Amino acid sequence: MTYRTVLTETRGRVGIVQLNRPQAMNAFNTAMLTELFDALEVFDKDENIGAIIVTGNEKAFAAGADIKEMAQASPFQMITEARVEIWDRIRGIKKPVIAAVSGWALGGGCEFALSCDMIIASESAKFGQPEITIGVIPGAGGTQRLARLLGKQLAMEMVINNRTLTAAEALHFGLVNRVVPVEGYLDAAVAFAEEIAARAPLAVRMAKDSVNAAFETSLTEGLKAEKRNFYPLFSTEDQKEGMQAFIEKRKADWKGR
Ligand code: CAA
Repeated sequence: MTYRTVLTETRGRVGIVQLNRPQAMNAFNTAMLTELFDALEVFDKDENIGAIIVTGNEKAFAAGADIKEMAQASPFQMITEARVEIWDRIRGIKKPVIAAVSGWALGGGCEFALSCDMIIASESAKFGQPEITIGVIPGAGGTQRLARLLGKQLAMEMVINNRTLTAAEALHFGLVNRVVPVEGYLDAAVAFAEEIAARAPLAVRMAKDSVNAAFETSLTEGLKAEKRNFYPLFSTEDQKEGMQAFIEKRKADWKGR
């Protein structure tokens, strides 16, 4: 697929997708969503890639769904054109996805960042769900993911009263992993992703799947899910290599099998 609304690049084992509609504050129109998920799925299948970054620009990660595109939509169009369901494709990505957020992450932009596995925020990042100000509510997971991450009170305030979180507040409340200077924020995210991309790939995949299980199940079922991912790793060359390398006091040489 030739992309018009996203840019892609690789740095070592890190794949980067940059949202590229700066004239619209990177608002997600259908074209950009389609291209974003295509690019993510291509990186996910590429064995030379160990982690994926999604970023925007310094001023805006993304200002949400494209209001101009959906302003006249009927409910039927919203459903049949999969304008909301398409966002769920992020859940099918097996490799770690890191959002590198600078500037506005609003509406669907905030929701997309939350549905990534980790977030590196620049000092200028601002997270919010302003849908209430245009007569709707979040439709791409915001009510659910914010409530799980932040608890009921703050999630309610963000969704019902358009409370915006600064980068420092987001770090304080556990919404983001790191806050870094605006200048070089993407390089900082790449350094963070490179560390992950250099780890044993199958173990990383099982680790991501296991943590995500915690948000879907009871503790009993979650513990079973963890064990289902733990035991098969003992059939991998990387488990033998990793433990032998520890014993021999050397760096492991991962094969991804
Ligand atoms: N959709 C379409 N266009 C958008 C947009 C959006 N979500 N956000 C910004 N733009 C456009 C503006 O219309 C403007 O275009 P023009 O130059 O053609 O007028 C351009 O981007 C620059 O925006 P501003 O002039 O508004 O820039 P600003 O610096 O003054 O403000 C902002 C920036 C605070 C992000 C402001 O643009 C804003 O509030 N945007 C809308 C945020 C929003 O309501 N998001 C929720 C969308 S609904 C949603 O996401 C549903 C869901 O759950 C999936």
